[in-house]
Amino acid sequence: MTHLSEDSKRLRIGHIPVTHKEIISKELVDFNDVCLLILPLTQPDQRSNPTELVNSLVDSVVEHLGAKATLITMGETIDLVHAHARLSSSMQYQLWVAIKRTSLKISKDNSVLPEYHFGALVHTRYNGSLNHTKTRIKYTYCPACERTTKDYGGKKHTYSSYGTLLSDVWRDISADLEKDLSGIIERFADLFGLETYSQLLVLDCRNLKQPTVVEKREKYTLQTSFFSPSQNKTNQSRLILGDSLEELRKLSDNSIDFAFADPPYNLSKKYNNYTDDLSITEYFDWCDEWISELARILRPGKTCAILNIPLWDIRHFLHMERILQFQNWIVWDALSFPVRLIMPAHYGILCFSKGPSRPLPGLMDQAEEFHIKNSSKTFQPLAPLGEGYCLRSTCVRTRQLMDIDDRGPLTDLWWDIHRLKHNSRRVDHPCQLPPQLMYRLITIFTEPGEIVLDCFNGAGTTTLTAYQLNRQYIGIELSEKYHAISGSRHREILAGLDPFRKVKRKLTEKNSPVERMPVQTYEVPKKTLQLEVRRVARILGKLPNRDDMIEHGKYPIEYYDNYFVSWGEVCAAARHEGMSEEKDSIQKTSSVIQQLNLFS
Ligand SMILES: C[S@@+](CC[C@H](N)C(=O)[O-])C[C@H]1O[C@@H](n2cnc3c(N)ncnc32)[C@H](O)[C@@H]1O
Repeated sequence: MTHLSEDSKRLRIGHIPVTHKEIISKELVDFNDVCLLILPLTQPDQRSNPTELVNSLVDSVVEHLGAKATLITMGETIDLVHAHARLSSSMQYQLWVAIKRTSLKISKDNSVLPEYHFGALVHTRYNGSLNHTKTRIKYTYCPACERTTKDYGGKKHTYSSYGTLLSDVWRDISADLEKDLSGIIERFADLFGLETYSQLLVLDCRNLKQPTVVEKREKYTLQTSFFSPSQNKTNQSRLILGDSLEELRKLSDNSIDFAFADPPYNLSKKYNNYTDDLSITEYFDWCDEWISELARILRPGKTCAILNIPLWDIRHFLHMERILQFQNWIVWDALSFPVRLIMPAHYGILCFSKGPSRPLPGLMDQAEEFHIKNSSKTFQPLAPLGEGYCLRSTCVRTRQLMDIDDRGPLTDLWWDIHRLKHNSRRVDHPCQLPPQLMYRLITIFTEPGEIVLDCFNGAGTTTLTAYQLNRQYIGIELSEKYHAISGSRHREILAGLDPFRKVKRKLTEKNSPVERMPVQTYEVPKKTLQLEVRRVARILGKLPNRDDMIEHGKYPIEYYDNYFVSWGEVCAAARHEGMSEEKDSIQKTSSVIQQLNLFS
């Protein structure tokens, strides 16, 4: 078993093969446990089940669910989008779990990235946050340096010795929808092993006979010239200060080769000049409008990619599939650290083409080599790191020196690109993307010389990377401040500077909802204070409160008051025994890295 659920009473697993829909009503009578609905398998020549079939299955399950029930729906990404559309009015959305496939699904014509994940949607009948057990997965270790795959930095004393909290991307186990799903099912049985539940009922519809599909969606018709190279005679590159919708309306039909959008998420983020909290209907009406504009200006056969949180992606998907053709739902596991129970760690990048897609430039034999002055020599956009290798730059470099093949296939599941963590790489924008993400997207979806458009250009990550990759660019940004930042970074590139270099800057915009502490000198390191709390906790047999620390602690209470954001942070090390990043100090003497060190 690769996970550990604290205080879990594993649910009894019932398995019902559903051969006709009526079985569902018989098995689910005022059901108040956990139901796992596995959607029918898609036909080999299709990417999804007919919407009517998904709807009718979902309806017949929901009808019987009581007020405490949890419903997990498992299936292909597109089917889950339609399942959610049907469920959203009667159940509370909780989570989208992306699950790694064991076998890649590869398209013959290279028009989509190989598919490497399916999903499980979790909905509840109750409102409020999801009830589940605290579940951890074991730390994984890099086969080369034998240290943890993630770099836990200076916080090791605050982590569990067993493993890290489960996130919403399951890569430590894998399965195929057509085959044995028992590992996944057992994990759900532990995850929901709460007092309130006793069974996990699996309604397995994989072999349910499907009606014949009638394709009803209207699509753009393909123009004959679509494989011919884009005719970009004059350089179109520019940064535009203005409202995306207004500016998009000024652009000609069929004029853009890759449209990317990282819109505001409407999560009350504090942007300069923009309020990120429209009503949800207003937000999506607005999104539908600019997405339709992107579809209009996109050249046939080319791709539009939209990055958002999974729940919003579902809604974008429903609009996009009416006017464009689905290519990939890229899961970007942005490698956050676990800060709450099931940590939402991923974003979806929805990729749709205008009409059938051309073969993707990044998947062709002649895919370009990646050379960016000053960029890390170890990052290759079209050759991601293989599963399990760590991202520590020293280890990556040593692996290169030793000619260890640490690369894996390019798929629609990305885990080797971090969100920007170090402030030294940030400019004054609350949510700039890492350049590596854009290097990858741009090299997959475009050829040199083509036009890349970002209608929410922020601090300019897209336009800067497009320029570095010899693409033309158009960036639209509403805020004068961010527009000015991207402008000055473009001037830096022209002056030969790396716009993504580390610089000590005074940042005013926050990239995290957690209050930032003022810069200060610590009389005693925070780690020492947290370990002191652990010592006191052991004596008292409980987590100490402030008064306990005044009475039993060695250090003035003001240190705790002034150095930490919350009492939870003060007690972080007292809740855990701490972890080591070394897999096994004895084994390590024989590890590859030792041989590698001989060379350095
Ligand atoms: C999520 S951020 C994009 C960050 C960008 N990807 C980067 O790496 O810097 C969204 C951006 O959209 C901008 N924005 C919001 N509403 C806009 C609008 N109506 N037109 C153009 N830009 C807008 C915000 O000011 C913000 O900079």
